[in-house]
Amino acid sequence: MGRLSCPFVTVFTTIVFITSVEDKPRTEASRDCANPEPSFEQSVIKEMVGVGSDRTKGEKNVSIGNVVVATIFEEFETRLSRLERRLRAIEQPVWQMSSGEEDWEICAEGPCRCQPEIKLVSCWRQDLLDLPAAQLVPRDVLKLDLAGNRLTTLHRDTFLDMTRLNHLDLSDNSIEHLPLNLFFSLHAVARIRLSKNLLGELHRSQFFNTRNLRILDASSNKLRNLPESLFLSTTLLVLLDLSCNRISSFLPGIFHGLTMLEELLLGKNRLSVLPVDLFKDLTSLKYLGLEENRLRELPDELFRTQTSLRELNFRSNQLSEISARLLAPLEQLNSLEMSNNKIARINPTAFQGLVALKELQLGHNRLRNLTPGLFSMSASLERLVLYANGIENLLRGTFQGLSNLTSLFLHSNHLRIMHPDLFQDTPNLRKLQLESNYLSSLPPRILDAVESIEQLRLARNPWHCDCAASYLATWLQRMYLTRVNDTNSSENLGIWEFGAGAVCRGPGTLGGRLLLRLTFHELCEGQWASMKGLVPRLPIDLISGRNVASTDNPFSRNESVSTPNLSRSTIPSQR
Ligand SMILES: *[C@@H]1O[C@H](CO)[C@@H](O)[C@H](O)[C@H]1NC(C)=O
Ligand SMILES: *[C@@H]1O[C@H](CO)[C@@H](O)[C@H](O)[C@H]1NC(C)=O
Ligand SMILES: *[C@@H]1O[C@H](CO)[C@@H](O)[C@H](O)[C@H]1NC(C)=O
Ligand SMILES: *[C@@H]1O[C@H](CO)[C@@H](O)[C@H](O)[C@H]1NC(C)=O
Ligand SMILES: *[C@@H]1O[C@H](CO)[C@@H](O)[C@H](O)[C@H]1NC(C)=O
Ligand SMILES: *[C@@H]1O[C@H](CO)[C@@H](O)[C@H](O)[C@H]1NC(C)=O
Repeated sequence: MGRLSCPFVTVFTTIVFITSVEDKPRTEASRDCANPEPSFEQSVIKEMVGVGSDRTKGEKNVSIGNVVVATIFEEFETRLSRLERRLRAIEQPVWQMSSGEEDWEICAEGPCRCQPEIKLVSCWRQDLLDLPAAQLVPRDVLKLDLAGNRLTTLHRDTFLDMTRLNHLDLSDNSIEHLPLNLFFSLHAVARIRLSKNLLGELHRSQFFNTRNLRILDASSNKLRNLPESLFLSTTLLVLLDLSCNRISSFLPGIFHGLTMLEELLLGKNRLSVLPVDLFKDLTSLKYLGLEENRLRELPDELFRTQTSLRELNFRSNQLSEISARLLAPLEQLNSLEMSNNKIARINPTAFQGLVALKELQLGHNRLRNLTPGLFSMSASLERLVLYANGIENLLRGTFQGLSNLTSLFLHSNHLRIMHPDLFQDTPNLRKLQLESNYLSSLPPRILDAVESIEQLRLARNPWHCDCAASYLATWLQRMYLTRVNDTNSSENLGIWEFGAGAVCRGPGTLGGRLLLRLTFHELCEGQWASMKGLVPRLPIDLISGRNVASTDNPFSRNESVSTPNLSRSTIPSQR
């Protein structure tokens, strides 16, 4: 979960909601897709072809024959209902429009609420099936709210002559069809919300006259294909939300001319490829959401003009590789979210252009190794998320250049080996998560470089509690004692109380014990006999109990070896 990414998005979405037509409870529709109930026709068809009512289950478990039948039916249904919807739109009632000062008084008599002081007409949640014909709408209305009703379509004259209208909210209805001329009078409209409806298509001239449009929210509909000229005249668009639809591809020119666009939300669609020129004109883009699509690969030059981009979200796609050039132009990028893909290869120079990066999420991919220096240009990186990959080995220099790194998440990998100098590159590390790996020991002194560490997680590793573990044991004990002594750190105590979760796998009777609780004597007694046959992990001199002060000796300082004689009252007993 992007702790950094969410607030950024929220800023923009909040603007939409707070300044939306009036104060009323809103759900964050644009972030979490609404799950519109399947329409009646759909349910019928699904039943006819034997698809369960559970949509996702049904789509996965349907035989080829049924798919063909379903497609034919769907096509048939689409044509028929398109015709039907147009007819229905023509039959729709229209409310009365008027002009004149006293209009706002009359307006207040209608079923909807009128607020003359802000020129608002609100029919929000009136359970309307049709436009209320009795409602009088003053011609100088600025804000019009029809959200939260049961409208299925609108007559094309519904907004006729509302040339000053600024906000229009049609969200959360059951609108299937928008007549072509519906918005033709809305020269001044800056915000249109169409989210949470049942729109399957938009006409190519739908927004032809809404040249002042800044925010368009068409999320959570059933849009499949968008005509290439849809946004031709809406060149002032700042935010465009098309998330939670069924879009599988874009025509290359669809976003041409949108040089003011700052936020583009395309998440939760069915995109599998993107044309190389798709974002060419979007030079002001700050946020781009492409999460939960089906993207397998991306053209190298896709982001060549996105030098203003701050946040990029590719979570939950099918990407398998990050090329050298794809991300190179993104010099202002703060947050890159690529978790839950199939990334197995990252070009060694793939991140070299990301000089402003603060958060990088690569969790749940297929990485097995990380090239040393991979992140070396991202000196401002603070959070690096690499959990649930297949990383086995962290070489020296893997985190080179990351002097501002505070959080490193490496849990659920296959880590066995970490270079002793690994964390010398990350002196500001505060959180380190290493649980669920294959670590049986840590190199001596590896943690000496991270003095300000606050959280360390070591659980679910096969810790081998022999003499080689005495560095870690001593280190944990020191952390624990410091925290116990510090009267104000009780909130931090929990992390260290159980030795950061380091439980011994073995040897022998030490299995199951907390590493934190073992003394040097317990760890080293009788161990060296068995270790002598192997390459010793500690100098033999030390193992045999003699003090040596060589520079290579991790315990060259006398005091570090003699574990404090911990009384039972200071070290918690193991559960
Ligand atoms: C499809 O559904 C049937 C019964 O509902 C089940 O036995 C079968 O395993 C499913 N097949 C797949 C591929 O999920
Ligand atoms: C590292 O962090 C410090 C303090 O937060 C900040 O002043 C500095 O600019 C950061 N360095 C980089 C390269 O971002
Ligand atoms: C803990 O506090 C005691 C006295 O209160 C002090 O003698 C000892 O040095 C402290 N230990 C650490 C590790 O700070
Ligand atoms: C401990 O916390 C209290 C208030 O919570 C504060 O007044 C006091 O200065 C703190 N002491 C130390 C040693 O940080
Ligand atoms: C280790 O301790 C002995 C005596 O306890 C002392 O003579 C020696 O100088 C110490 N070595 C170091 C490196 O502190
Ligand atoms: C350590 O504690 C044991 C009993 O818990 C005691 O017999 C021994 O003398 C202590 N050693 C030191 C160095 O304090």
